Amino acid sequence: MAAVLLDGKKTAQAIQAEVAAGVAALVGERGVRPGLAAVLVGDNPASEVYVRNKRKACEQVGIRSWLHHLPADTASSTLLELIRQLNADPSVHGILVQLPLPPKIDERAIVQAVAPVKDIDGFGPENLGLLAAGQPRYLPCTPHGVQQLLLRHGIEVEGAHVVIVGRSLIVGRPLALMLMQKAAGANATVTVVHSRSRDLAELTRRADVVVVAIGQAGFLKADMIRPGAVVVDVGINRQADGRLVGDVDFEGVRQVASAITPVPGGVGPMTIAMLVHNTLAAARLLCRADPLAR
Ligand code: GUN
Repeated sequence: MAAVLLDGKKTAQAIQAEVAAGVAALVGERGVRPGLAAVLVGDNPASEVYVRNKRKACEQVGIRSWLHHLPADTASSTLLELIRQLNADPSVHGILVQLPLPPKIDERAIVQAVAPVKDIDGFGPENLGLLAAGQPRYLPCTPHGVQQLLLRHGIEVEGAHVVIVGRSLIVGRPLALMLMQKAAGANATVTVVHSRSRDLAELTRRADVVVVAIGQAGFLKADMIRPGAVVVDVGINRQADGRLVGDVDFEGVRQVASAITPVPGGVGPMTIAMLVHNTLAAARLLCRADPLAR
């Protein structure tokens, strides 16, 4: 029997409707409209599409957004100065620096310059540290989207073996931290495998849930999973013919899995929904008397 499709588009729409209601309440009760500043450097076509989609989602839920699009040869110091201005701007609640940045820019320094309370991607050391400590402030958007997609399809990860393929700072690592938390929607047994793992397929075959986030088209094949496993595909790879495909060999794996995310229409829209969710959370935090109080 072919796998059930985990519809990220529909789930993201439901989350965005919840966020829109939260935004309307914040505007009505506090007179504060959440604002997101997006920073895009250079002309990576994929990044341009992602930022456009993120801003479109902001507009749909009533979040104000600004785009700061800088040329590829922008100096790190110029970018740092922009981040400082956005940190100080009271109408900006969230700052999104679209990654990757051009190679000459010190990405780490830029990510770390974002005020932690405005770091709605959750990439900076303070927010990652809070997550590791079990007191998350903003959950990174893609891992949070994966967790919500499973939860809202009634897929229980508590006690399950989740194998995450990929250890990136944006997906694999924070997702592992999230799913192993002692918390609802978590409590999983987590294994992280990566490019240096020995016998990788033997490990993925032991999983109840496999999440693939490595950026390699069609990497996960049908013989690498257990029949009935749930498969979440975080990859978005553009083929030479312009088609978007994931990190999973979708046609093969769907014959063996019990549930699978499509690409596009799976995790991608969930990332965007969680970004608007975090921007609303930042606006709520920042309009408290002491935004850093926990
Ligand atoms: N690049 C790939 N994914 C992301 C993301 O979630 N946020 C940002 N800022 N950049 C990314």
